[in-house]
This record gives sequence, structure tokens and C-alpha cells, in this order.
Amino acid sequence: MKNRVVGPSIFSEMSRLASACGAINLAQGFPNLPIDYRLLSNLKEVLDENHHQYAPYQGSMHLREAIIQFVDRTQNTQLSIDEVLITAGATQGIFTAIQALVNSGEEVVLLDPCYDCYEYPIMLVGAKPIHLSLNNDFLPDWNLIFDVVSDKTALIIINSPHNPSGIMWREEDYQRLSDLLDKNPQLKVLSDEVYEFLFYEKPHLSVRNRSEIKNRAVVVSSFGKSLQATGWKMGYLTAPESLMRPILAVHQYLVFSVNSVMQEGIARYLPNFNPEEVRISYLQKRNLLRKALEKSKFSLLPCEGTYFQSLDFKRVSDQGDEEFCRWLTQEIGVAAIPYSVFYESKEDHQKIRLCFAKDNQTIMDATERLCKI
Ligand SMILES: Cc1ncc(COP(=O)(O)O)c(C=O)c1O
Repeated sequence: MKNRVVGPSIFSEMSRLASACGAINLAQGFPNLPIDYRLLSNLKEVLDENHHQYAPYQGSMHLREAIIQFVDRTQNTQLSIDEVLITAGATQGIFTAIQALVNSGEEVVLLDPCYDCYEYPIMLVGAKPIHLSLNNDFLPDWNLIFDVVSDKTALIIINSPHNPSGIMWREEDYQRLSDLLDKNPQLKVLSDEVYEFLFYEKPHLSVRNRSEIKNRAVVVSSFGKSLQATGWKMGYLTAPESLMRPILAVHQYLVFSVNSVMQEGIARYLPNFNPEEVRISYLQKRNLLRKALEKSKFSLLPCEGTYFQSLDFKRVSDQGDEEFCRWLTQEIGVAAIPYSVFYESKEDHQKIRLCFAKDNQTIMDATERLCKI
């Protein structure tokens, strides 16, 4: 496994193709929106002060305390300081949690389609990823999950609001997850909640709020998504102390600690940060994109959360989705992500994912091109 060569992800590949063709890049999930000036001025202040040496390895006290207040204010959940770890983006949180909680020979359940950063760290520890398909509505097939989870299963990785579909788990899904944990005492949960503040029709139900699950769960958040600054690679995870102990051991030797200036800048900003403003702004963008595409030949799938809109292109082309995305980028000037890359089986449902974390003009320009097909 250690010699396995992994090429650049489809996200990098599509971004490169978009820039080579001068196409509008709705492929990779990053905003082209301004960052709150108050956050930038907090960061500038910090640069002139003395925050340039290693922060404590769990993360600065100031930022962890600010996160505790923030999670209490926005998700009505009380955490203790030892339950919070600052990470270099959600990606490092996910990698670290998997290295810490999964042993060689064990199994980890993944629900396809899913984000690409889960599988590699599972294989790196010598464990086996078990890919199960979500239902056609992108909600979990609980009968299948109950059948597959056994005493060899160390972890199940869940993601709501979901990338790529934008679907959010229902109350019943969390109840079934809780039943699954009751039935399998060794099982733990890794809940990827990086889109926790981007929900449109109904509120996000966080695992942090579920007393019956949270004692067996690691929950991962991303400041890249919440503060619209993906390039900073800042995030955090929360976990009960029993799971945090092995996680800290891996974290200590992986990064030791995360960028001290960013930590202090974010800590100063968090008390003023209102994620509701971000949510409303994305809700408007989702509505703008959907309205503009109504007259296109694409079928729009539901989008309950995240900043991704999925389209079915069966009425537009009979190409495979990767081929279609290359054609769309080169000939129409809009880059998108093919859905098949989110499936281990690479099965092709003729669907693509668009990112609408863009200024309104970019959304209008892209939709105008898509409506011409
Ligand atoms: C579902 C999901 N998890 C994790 C990440 C990684 O987040 P970060 O950039 O904070 O590492 C992403 C980024 O696109 C994502 O979509």
C-alpha cells in the first residue's frame, strides 16, 4: 500500500483544465467571495504582535475557548477544553482521527458517493474501506449498513450536509445510527460536518448535539468552509476525552501544532462571527443558480445544504460523466465535477456537481452558457 502511487485528484485536474481553457470554474469547491474585513483586520493586528512561535499542540487556549463559546452560541452544545483540537483544515482532522482510531485488519464503512479524502488514510493503516451505496435519494440504506457492520468494523464515516449531493440526514437517520452503535459496542463514528452552517430548508442536526452518539464520535469542522477561506487550511475537531487521547498522540507527531498567527486571528474574530449571514448569502446564491437553470435542459437535483448543486445531464448528452465534464469545460466554458469520481465503483449516473460559492456575476455567466446547450 505504501508504494501505491496516487495521482492528482479530479478537483485539481478540473481546475487546471478550467484555467487552461479560460473556463468558469464551478468544479473545485472554493469561494471567490470576499473575506469579512473584520477577520482580515484581526489577522493584521496579530501579525504585528508576538504570536510567531509554536502554539500548544492541542491548539491555543484562546482559540479553543472561543470555539467552545461559538459552538455553545450556534449549536447549543457545551464542550470542555479537552474535547477540542485545532487542525490544519478538516482534512488533517480526518486523517488524524482515522490513524488514531482504526487498526490494521479492521474495517471502515464509507457511504458512496463520498468525498475523496477518507479512503487513503484507511488504506494507509492497513484497514479495509467498505464502500456501501447511499439510496437514490442519497440517504443511507440502513438495512445494508446493519447487515455489513460487524465486530471487525472500527468506524463509520458520515457526512451531512453531504458533498456532493447537498442532501442532509433526517432525524430518523441519527436514530438508526444510534441503534447501530448500541448493537456494535466497538463501533465509532467520524462525522464530517464541514458544511454545518450551509443548510437551507431545515436546520443541520449535529452529532455534537446527540447525547446518545457524541460519546463515540469525532466531529470535524472547517474554518475554510465557514469563514470562506479554504486556502488557510484551518479547522477543528471535537471528541470525547477517551477518543481524544489517541488522536492527540497522532496529531503531535503529524503537525505538532497549527499556524499560530491564524489561530489568534480567528480566536479574536469568532465572537463577532455570525454564520447565519453566510448561510443566507449562500441560500440566495443557490436560488439564483436554480432559477437561472430552470430553462436549461439539465434536471436539477434537490439541494438542501452545502454550496453544491447537482445536475442530471441525461437530456443533454449520452456521454460518460468524465467525458462530459471535459467537453463542458473545453467547449462550453464551464468546469464541473463528474459524480462517478465520488464512487469507488466509478459508476456513472450522468450527474455532475457545480459549486455556487461564487459572486453573482460568475453564477449568471456560467448559467447563461449552460442554458445555451
Ligand atoms: C466533505 C468534505 N470534507 C472535508 C473537506 C476538507 O476540508 P478542509 O479544506 O478544511 O480540509 C472538504 C473540502 O472540500 C469536504 O467537502
